[in-house]
Amino acid sequence: MDFKILTGLDKEKEAIDRQLVFTTQDLNLWYGETHALKNINLPIYEREVTAIIGPSGCGKSTFLKTLNRMVELVQGVHTSGRIEYRNRNIFDKNFRVEELRTKVGMVFQKPNPFPKSIYDNIAYGPRIHGIKNKEILDQIVEKSLRGAAIWDEVKDRLKESAYGLSGGQQQRLCIARALAIEPDVILMDEPTSALDPKSTLKVEQLIQELKADYSIVIVTHNMQQAARISDRTAFMLNGELIEYSDTDSLFSTPADQRTEDYITGRFG
Ligand SMILES: Nc1ncnc2c1ncn2[C@@H]1O[C@H](COP(=O)(O)OP(=O)(O)O)[C@@H](O)[C@H]1O
Ligand SMILES: [Mg+2]
Repeated sequence: MDFKILTGLDKEKEAIDRQLVFTTQDLNLWYGETHALKNINLPIYEREVTAIIGPSGCGKSTFLKTLNRMVELVQGVHTSGRIEYRNRNIFDKNFRVEELRTKVGMVFQKPNPFPKSIYDNIAYGPRIHGIKNKEILDQIVEKSLRGAAIWDEVKDRLKESAYGLSGGQQQRLCIARALAIEPDVILMDEPTSALDPKSTLKVEQLIQELKADYSIVIVTHNMQQAARISDRTAFMLNGELIEYSDTDSLFSTPADQRTEDYITGRFG
């Protein structure tokens, strides 16, 4: 992983160059009769961490799963509005959902390694994409595990089952598995909520490193976590996007009373 030290000037330049990876326009989603997302307009910038916060049931996971169309696996879902990924309409017939999911990887709340070796967990995606050459697979496995800051802990036990790892290690393995298919965006749904504080810290540090190369959208119900690791924060309530701004402003000077009530712990 490369670390760049940015001067003030570089930072300004980077902000100008920064592209949007996703835009959502008037996005609505219904599970049958339940109106779960209401007119969401939210941009996601590249090489940043965007946090989505809000009380349980407000639509955070639904929003996340809409970005890679995983939500469509649920029966009876319908959507309206528009989502563009790098200026392409993700609902367009010509945009294959497999391609979208290759570009937009996902990490879930509970670590979910496959019942396979550590090596095979990482090699799984690349193999599906047709890579069979052992040397190339070895390289991908090492690069992905290094990228997820877990290589040193597992390099001598690659053939052992992923189930032998601790919860925190399993979650970093799942992040490595997402990296192995070279995504552009990584969606993370409460990735540390099942982890102890030490593993949580490791995953938070990892997220900070990953944003040099990837765009990250993280759902968290932990406001301190959002404040620590994100560049921008969106606050949702009852399916609505109440407020979205850079993380420092949202937490220091929220514009909406409901945001203030939530971040000061009055509900949620
Ligand atoms: N598979 C589903 N079928 C029907 N309703 C669902 C489903 N998943 C979520 N919902 C409903 O959509 C709303 C938003 O849920 P969700 O996105 O999981 O919220 P959050 O992640 O913020 O806790 C809730 O009212 C929830 O009950
Ligand atoms: Mg959720």
